[in-house]
Amino acid sequence: MKRGTDIEHAARVLRAGGLVAFPTETVYGLGADASRDDAVAKIFAAKGRPRAHPLIVHLAPDARLEDWAAEVPEVAHRLARAAWPGPLTMILARGPRVALAATGGAETVGLRVPAHPVAQALLRAFGGGVAAPSANRFGAVSPTTAEHVAADLGDAVDYLLDGGACDVGVESTIVDLSRGQPVLLRPGGLARETIEAITGPLRRADATAPAAPGTLASHYAPRAEVIAVRPDEVPGAVAAATGRVAVLAPAAAFARWPALPAIAHPLPDDVAGMARALYAALRDLDASGVDVVIAALPPAAGLGEAVGDRLLRAAGPRRT
Ligand code: TXA
Ligand code: MG
Repeated sequence: MKRGTDIEHAARVLRAGGLVAFPTETVYGLGADASRDDAVAKIFAAKGRPRAHPLIVHLAPDARLEDWAAEVPEVAHRLARAAWPGPLTMILARGPRVALAATGGAETVGLRVPAHPVAQALLRAFGGGVAAPSANRFGAVSPTTAEHVAADLGDAVDYLLDGGACDVGVESTIVDLSRGQPVLLRPGGLARETIEAITGPLRRADATAPAAPGTLASHYAPRAEVIAVRPDEVPGAVAAATGRVAVLAPAAAFARWPALPAIAHPLPDDVAGMARALYAALRDLDASGVDVVIAALPPAAGLGEAVGDRLLRAAGPRRT
């Protein structure tokens, strides 16, 4: 796999129907030309992802929403003005330039204008939409550095654009605007409160919501067993656990637990810092061979909702 910072080369790879991994402010994406079924098919093969699972189409800030969405309700325009570029994905009716393979055959499409300067430079140089899931193997923890991408996907990627560590650290917030009342499909890097200030209360995803792999109970999962508990339950969970046990919690919390019989993995005390460090922490703990990770759930406000969501999914039923 070639790796570097050459935007023009990356754009040429996309034009040739190849795969480019690139940084966004949330996590690294594995991108292909969103208007070409053959290019998009390579993403599913590289990730080992089921073909019916739709991808997010990334657009440059000056892209015309109407080219990529067939119907754009007024609320979508308002959200776009307020939150793009940024960690928000809107589900809308699929527009003419989106290849059917990119939506997994669905008549809706997820659209996002990322804020990362390297992602924007790539989208501008390429001139079209870039379909991109997170650049990890299906079901695994999302990559927040180029090293994570290289470790997960290696030679399956034609070019890896290295943009350093991602700033937000958890995936975008996904809001479905294709079915009338706005529905929160996935909490993420943009706080629910910020969105609700524009849309009004978001409904929770229910059984009629479109299936999304990021909403499977077991997803974003490391190899170690993850047990997500309230902070006050951490000492008890450690006492009950067997094997090599680690604790993932805000640094300040460890002061309350002197002599905890576990490997301490402190995270920043603020939820934004926690989100930024979370996936690298889970990967580090896996690499150090721990068997069990006891993770302290943050309060569900702001980015805490996304951090808690990912911890609970990491703690979901084990994959086979
Ligand atoms: O921050 C992010 O969103 C990152 C970066 C690369 O942009 N991307 C990302 O993609 O997390 P992925 O594929 O790992 O997760 C996208 C989620 C999936 O749960 C998928 O099912 C959902 O978005 N999704 C995409 N299009 C959809 C659609 N038309 N309807 C419902 N869900 C959709
Ligand atoms: Mg993903």
